[in-house]
Amino acid sequence: MIGESTVQKPDPQHIGIIMDGNGRWAKQRGHSRPRGHKEGAKATRTIIDACQDLGIRYLTLYAFSAENWNRPNLEVRALMELLELFLARETKTLVKRRVRLHAIGRIDELPTSARKALEKAIEATKEFDDWHLTLALNYSSRNEVLDAAKAFAQAVARGEISPDTTDWGDFSKHLDTAELPDPDLIIRTSGETRISNFLLMQSAYAEFYFTETLWPDFDKEQLEKALSCYRNRERRYGKTGEQLATHSSTAQSNPLQPSA
Ligand code: IPE
Ligand code: IPE
Ligand code: MG
Repeated sequence: MIGESTVQKPDPQHIGIIMDGNGRWAKQRGHSRPRGHKEGAKATRTIIDACQDLGIRYLTLYAFSAENWNRPNLEVRALMELLELFLARETKTLVKRRVRLHAIGRIDELPTSARKALEKAIEATKEFDDWHLTLALNYSSRNEVLDAAKAFAQAVARGEISPDTTDWGDFSKHLDTAELPDPDLIIRTSGETRISNFLLMQSAYAEFYFTETLWPDFDKEQLEKALSCYRNRERRYGKTGEQLATHSSTAQSNPLQPSA
């Protein structure tokens, strides 16, 4: 058979994950919520390795939202301690695997010791370029847009950008994700089917995959399931399916992605 089914669709270059369900995982087992986060951190390690093994160059993990400060103090403190522990333990592995660490979100508002641990890990991996792990911490897409709008307005005031620009790249270079390509696939675990303020601008043309699996139970096999679902999607970017069938070589390029 000749046709669409013979065209090998590329795997995503960039996956974003909303790692949800740690609390419910713990509750189901009669454990405390922090215990659920600890198990979630193990899944995070597994998925970072799995992404590299599967050739996914960019992975962005939603680890702590700006809204998560509203949780009980004890849980927030446990999450910040876990972040520090994770960075202390994982930096060596990231260096060994040549993975560059990035952070998005209002990092300057994190507790000092967590911020320092993060900056140290970012510094230790800054030379690498093949693999990119981004942690979204104290992240809110709307805050990011506000911060970008402010920086954009200042650049216009300095005469560096025309106020008449129609180029998305002129604006998106002020987003926290300026160095990253747009995500191709966004995964959310735990059965919730919302975005919770994650990468709203960047996911304009992303594919979404929702699974009932709770984050601590999400493993390489689950990731492969998400990838196989992704491969069955047709990313049309406004075109028709017939157009894609005749010009399969141009089918997968995102017209909203500023060229590097
Ligand atoms: C995700 O798991 C981790 C963070 C948001 C930090 P949750 O803690 O939200 O787990 P549920 O949604 O309560 O099960
Ligand atoms: C989103 O999860 C944030 C992270 C995964 C870090 P939440 O569990 O906080 O999201 P909501 O509040 O249920 O939407
Ligand atoms: Mg949750």
